[in-house]
Amino acid sequence: MSDLDAFIAGLPKAELHLHLEGSFEPEQMFAIARRNKAVIPFKSVEEVRAAYRFSNLQDFLDIYYQSANVLLTEQDFYDLTFAYLTRVAADRVRHVEVFFDPQTHTARGVSFAVVADGILKALADGEREFGITSKLILCFLRHLSEADALATFKRAEPWLNRIAGVGLDSSEVGHPPSKFTRVYDAARAAGLKLVAHAGEEGPAPYVWEALDLLKIDRIDHGNRSLDDDKLVARLARERITLTVCPLSNLKLCVVKDLKDHPLRRMLQLGLRATVNSDDPAYFGGYVNDNFRAVTKALGLTKAELVTLAKNSFLGSFLDDDDKARHLTAIDFYAAGN
Ligand code: HPA
Ligand code: ZN
Repeated sequence: MSDLDAFIAGLPKAELHLHLEGSFEPEQMFAIARRNKAVIPFKSVEEVRAAYRFSNLQDFLDIYYQSANVLLTEQDFYDLTFAYLTRVAADRVRHVEVFFDPQTHTARGVSFAVVADGILKALADGEREFGITSKLILCFLRHLSEADALATFKRAEPWLNRIAGVGLDSSEVGHPPSKFTRVYDAARAAGLKLVAHAGEEGPAPYVWEALDLLKIDRIDHGNRSLDDDKLVARLARERITLTVCPLSNLKLCVVKDLKDHPLRRMLQLGLRATVNSDDPAYFGGYVNDNFRAVTKALGLTKAELVTLAKNSFLGSFLDDDDKARHLTAIDFYAAGN
């Protein structure tokens, strides 16, 4: 292991952009399919992995939604979530803010309760077992209507004391943030935090809309913001966190090569960028794999790695005392390494 890889391995960090359904590893997919007597269109784990070659976001989403069909019971959602936490405990992840897509499941007859309760129980057990704290973020599927998002939000009402925020994911182009102003107004009125995927494949005006119409607290991806100097200035001035996902960007052809990845430029422009895995089972790695790959490609320094780790806590929805405690732990670690 190189010096920097070892430094990354032990660096305390938070993960702020992770779709639980995207942490569904092929091995677990086969195990759960067998348990549920569900049929999957693959013969082996190798065949599944071979199918994970995408030329854009939609290519990936088609296979991602199909795989999620295997998840039926509360135990399935528990196992999915607990497996993710077990895996990232080894990456020295201390806090996670994870997405789930209830509409993917309720649309095929799995109740909101099954999904949310399974996830929440695993998050509680993960904190007990690994000391990893968590926040849960309910994502609306943007290819569906706002009426469907509003109905989903209504269904979520009994869980809102255990849901930290709402997000927006799925097919971006053609489904701008402006489509979801009313459901974001409702979530804001309920006191929830607000995030949205914007500027992954969609243009910079989608990021403006997420800021001005949805009034989001954080941007997921945000790569295309760099096309617009005024937008960059605003993001820097308002210290808006970007949850950047290098290996996802590579696998979905948002960047051609990791050497072209804008992460370092974002830091140099004063943006609060973070490193995350997005859908690790599909994109070739968990959060430390993302740190290692982008560090190698861009030649990131220890100081930049420390900034990225600090940004992950600064950009989190933890309270100020918890943030301060994690920042101190990073300084302590960096001083000894
Ligand atoms: N973008 C949009 N929707 C998603 C993603 C993503 O990266 N991952 C899972 N759903
Ligand atoms: Zn995402």
